[in-house]
Amino acid sequence: MSLRPRDPLDRLLTVADHALRALTSTPSATRPTPAATRADRTLDPAERRLSGALMRVNHVGEVCAQALYSAQALATPDPALRRQFEHAAGEESDHLAWTSERLKQLGARPSRLNPLWYSGAFAIGLLAGRSGDATSLGFMVETERQVERHLDGHLERLPAADATSRAIVRQMKDDEAGHATAAERAGAARLPLPVRWAMRVAARVMTTTAHYV
Ligand SMILES: [Fe+2]
Ligand SMILES: [Fe+2]
Repeated sequence: MSLRPRDPLDRLLTVADHALRALTSTPSATRPTPAATRADRTLDPAERRLSGALMRVNHVGEVCAQALYSAQALATPDPALRRQFEHAAGEESDHLAWTSERLKQLGARPSRLNPLWYSGAFAIGLLAGRSGDATSLGFMVETERQVERHLDGHLERLPAADATSRAIVRQMKDDEAGHATAAERAGAARLPLPVRWAMRVAARVMTTTAHYV
C-alpha cells in the first residue's frame, strides 16, 4: 500500500482505490501462506463450520486493519510514521490474503457486512489519526494487543485437526505483536481506560456478528 497524497483529489482516489481493493479484489500475499507443521486431519462438518466461522471473524479483522491503517496513514503529517503505518498495512495485506484463501478452502464465505466494517473502521482510524500521532500510535498498540489476545483465544477454539488455520493464526499473532511493539517504540501514548474499554466493546460486537453474518 502506498498512501502519499498530494492533493485532495489524489487523497480521495487513493483512499477509494485502497477500499475497493480490500473489499472486492482477491488479495495477493507478499509472503507464502504459513505452512502447518503437520498435515490436517479431515475435518468433520461441525469442525469445518467452526473453522469457517472463526476464519471469517479473522478475515473481518484484517479488512478492518486495512481501513484503520489507511486512515491513520492518511491522517498523519509525519512521513516516517506514515511509512510505519504502510509497513504494518503491508503485513496486514498478507493476513487478508491468507484468511481469504483459507475461507475458500473451508467452503466458507466472507462477511456480508464487510463494507460496513470497513467504513466504521476507517472512521475510527481517522478519528485516532486526527487526535495526534502519539494517540494514533497508542490506538495502534491497543488494537494490536487486543487482536493478539483474540487470536490466542482462537488458537484454543480452532479444531485441533485444522493445522492449516492454526498455522495462519499463529503467524498473524506474531505479526500483530510486532506491530504493537513497533508502535510502543515509536512513542505511543497510553489510551485512557474508557477508550480502551469502548474499543473492546466495539471489537466484541464485530467478532460476535461476523461469526454468523
Ligand atoms: Fe492482521
Ligand atoms: Fe497488525
